[in-house]
Amino acid sequence: MTEPDLDALFAAALAVRASAHAPYSGFAVGAALCDEAGRIHAGCNVENAAYPVGTCAEAGAVSAMIAGGSRRIRAILVLADSPDPVTPCGACRQRIREFGAPDTPILAAGPGGLRARYTLEALLPASFGPEHLAHGR
Ligand code: THU
Repeated sequence: MTEPDLDALFAAALAVRASAHAPYSGFAVGAALCDEAGRIHAGCNVENAAYPVGTCAEAGAVSAMIAGGSRRIRAILVLADSPDPVTPCGACRQRIREFGAPDTPILAAGPGGLRARYTLEALLPASFGPEHLAHGR
């Protein structure tokens, strides 16, 4: 992944994070992903008074990608302000798994820049995915 892509992902995640609806946790998150065509799709967390109904920034970014007609995640960056780098929750790792590959970069950033770099395989080893269903259809 080239640096211009990283800069663009960071800028998109930082911008969308400002739109987060996080009145309950006060923890605003922005996520931006790059699809197979090099387009960027972004999302922020959207909390709800009925707490479990809230959605993560990554889920919003994946929804934006699908709505835009893309199906592959080349890289995804998550941006939040926390003492430790913020990685996607378990459910979002599975969401990324649906459209990513084992070596898909998952980047953790803070407001000041990139903080940590992982791969999907590292965060979700021995995972379940679409290919497991191939014999069931
Ligand atoms: N959150 C995200 O949007 N993405 C993450 O990677 C971690 C957590 C949100 C969910 C909730 O709105 C808030 O952060 C606190 O958990």
